[in-house]
Amino acid sequence: MKGILLAGGAGTRLYPLTLVTSKQLLPVYNKPMIYYPLSTLMLARIRDVLIISTPIDTPRIRELFGDGEALGMHLSYAVQDKPEGIAQAFTIGRNFVGDEPCAMILGDNIFYGNGLYHKLAHAVENAENGSATVFGYYVEDPQRFGVMELEKGIGGDEKNVKVLSVEEKPIAPRSNYAIVGLYFYPAGVSAMADQVQPSARGELEITSLNDLYLREGKLNAQLLGRGFTWIDAGTFESLRRATDFVYMIEQNQGMSISAPEEIAYRFGWITKEKLAQSAERYGKSPYGEHLRAVLDDRIVL
Ligand code: G1P
Repeated sequence: MKGILLAGGAGTRLYPLTLVTSKQLLPVYNKPMIYYPLSTLMLARIRDVLIISTPIDTPRIRELFGDGEALGMHLSYAVQDKPEGIAQAFTIGRNFVGDEPCAMILGDNIFYGNGLYHKLAHAVENAENGSATVFGYYVEDPQRFGVMELEKGIGGDEKNVKVLSVEEKPIAPRSNYAIVGLYFYPAGVSAMADQVQPSARGELEITSLNDLYLREGKLNAQLLGRGFTWIDAGTFESLRRATDFVYMIEQNQGMSISAPEEIAYRFGWITKEKLAQSAERYGKSPYGEHLRAVLDDRIVL
């Protein structure tokens, strides 16, 4: 199972913040935004990740994570010259994906919730068995997102709910369930992405790719229920909310969340020595302190 982290886009909605800085390197409370989606991919136990960003931002992100050795991962990088749509990630990443199943996460999407791990494991299983998985989250402003229409009468957050239709930023949404920026696809996704036609706004929409799977009867959806938080941190309002959220959770729990080095250590991808080296790198910051607490077994889960 491979993973793509798409950290492209011009971030125009965040100007002037993003005039000379990548959106995905902006702070969400105390760490760069990209730490959160990277952690989510890692929770799906994906160790081989392609990070796609703009020509200017890719070298900066590479500076941050390198080849992934400190995380016991294999990280590679590719450039998206122009923001021509999310589905393009699979054609840019064609050689990387090869004929394996592949997940993709958007670099400004933040997920948090106990048990997320299980949902991700289920999506991986679907992908390995030949079908795609998307996730739905209740929102008040579905017009801003990809939207899934669900079979009536579904309650709770059951596995694999039935999707009737998917639409990108509909004027009259058929539901309040946004399709969040985390997608799992079976082998062959790059060939499927080749079939996507540009939308009216000239982009290769991820929703069009999902629609192709839906038409083949190969699209599953899982709902992220009330115990989960999902934030697309791409606007000032949601970026502020993301920062407030992480602040509140970290203060309340007294520890950092979405720390890639910690996840790598707990999964046995890196040794104690490697974790100690990373803790050094972060110096006296609370993040460095957090890694030291993990090292000393002061935090055990
Ligand atoms: C993109 C996708 C949309 C999805 C959203 C999630 O929208 O096109 O389907 O719901 O990400 O964050 P964008 O953020 O590019 O407007």
